[in-house]
Amino acid sequence: MSFDPSVRPRDHFTPRRGWMNDPNGLIHHDGEFHLFFQHHTHALVHGPISWGHAVSTDLLTWAELPTAIAATADQHVWSGSVVHDAGNTSGLGTAGAGPLVALWTGRVTATERQSQSLSFSTDRGRTWTPYADNPVLDIGSTAFRDPKVLRHDGAWVMVVVLADARTVELYRSDDLLRWEHWSSFGPEGSVDGVWECPDLVRVPVEGSGDVRWVLLVSVFDGAPAGGSGMQYFVGELDDAGFRSTQPARWLDHGADLYAGVSYADAPGAEPVVQAWMSNWQYAESVPATEFRGAMTAPRRLALRPYDDELGLVQRPVVRDGTEVVALHDEPLDGTTLPVTATSYRVVAEVETGTASRFGLHVREGAGERTTVVVDTGARTVSLDRTASGETGFHPAFAAVHTAPLPAVGDVVRIEVLVDVSSVEVFVDEGAVALTDQVFPSPASAGVSVFAEGGTAVLRTISVTA
Ligand code: FRU
Repeated sequence: MSFDPSVRPRDHFTPRRGWMNDPNGLIHHDGEFHLFFQHHTHALVHGPISWGHAVSTDLLTWAELPTAIAATADQHVWSGSVVHDAGNTSGLGTAGAGPLVALWTGRVTATERQSQSLSFSTDRGRTWTPYADNPVLDIGSTAFRDPKVLRHDGAWVMVVVLADARTVELYRSDDLLRWEHWSSFGPEGSVDGVWECPDLVRVPVEGSGDVRWVLLVSVFDGAPAGGSGMQYFVGELDDAGFRSTQPARWLDHGADLYAGVSYADAPGAEPVVQAWMSNWQYAESVPATEFRGAMTAPRRLALRPYDDELGLVQRPVVRDGTEVVALHDEPLDGTTLPVTATSYRVVAEVETGTASRFGLHVREGAGERTTVVVDTGARTVSLDRTASGETGFHPAFAAVHTAPLPAVGDVVRIEVLVDVSSVEVFVDEGAVALTDQVFPSPASAGVSVFAEGGTAVLRTISVTA
């Protein structure tokens, strides 16, 4: 048996058909989460991109709606964002009911020019009208894209990249229509690849009343797991714009998290971020028949102090499953757990004891397995997909991805989300995160736990399916 690309993940959004990349226009509005996405409706590779659309009330179960903003022969609809113009500052709504406003990059096919255009909706995102005087922001560039708009200090702020220059440009507007340049950030941190899909979010610091600004930036190449990935800058926003107050960090050390942005107006203090679960290195080669591309689990972000710096922690949004395994105080000794499923969540608290390494195998069987290892000596967490299943479609795919573990206590908490074609690992509430696609046979459905170089004990483990 081999991987069956027609089987869909249970909890991760996939388009009904066609190619998908970045999430766009994420917003919570009127009781619904909207997920727009880069969609090539009739092919399994990138091409003439439109904005696909799906809605959800819980971020786990999605209903796909018709194309929201369609590509034309002259112009493709690249990434961008949606805001609720509650005060009708744009004048595009009706009195008392502000419109939803989408700002997106129009990429003109003939010239490859990239500028920012606007569409609006007055029917809860069901239909979209292009603004009559598009584009609203054009500087004559071929690498100016991915506007993310937020409300700050009584004005609209747009972050948008000059991709080749590796800068994030900040613009301000009172009405979403006329934009004035405010300031510029970068190049800084990782600059190996072009910069894409910026976002500026307010993130609470755990255990304090403090809130900081964090700038998220996707980098097309040079991420720790190879190819594309996301870095972030913790910093300050004032009249002079954004500046970082500590070195850049990576959001996820797996290979498959890119172009992540936050939901506008999401309930709660912690931003909810969702990303495309792939990597431009091999995105167009992964096994697929009807659709290609999935989104990551949405994650709530908080900041945690480490020595003199702050690091993001990320808690995935998960479903209430049925508990299929619940064990306490078991040694990690190679035990196979009674799990036969291809979508499940594992949460384990491990007393590290004398073991130098411990971890678990997921999607095990048929000569295949994906391995999560915590190395307490090296202070790393790794995700090994070299034997995960189909890997031969691209030379970069079969690899081990390793993340530094900022702190190792006596107890380490590991959470793993397994969903048909992906494994997401969160250690110590996502102080470390690793996200990888995998393409195992459906028969690889087991889970086992192990320790090496000493003993470690599972204080608790719970598997919900
Ligand atoms: C990121 C990206 C964006 C662009 C979009 C095109 O994956 O390259 O910069 O707007 O995809 O589909």
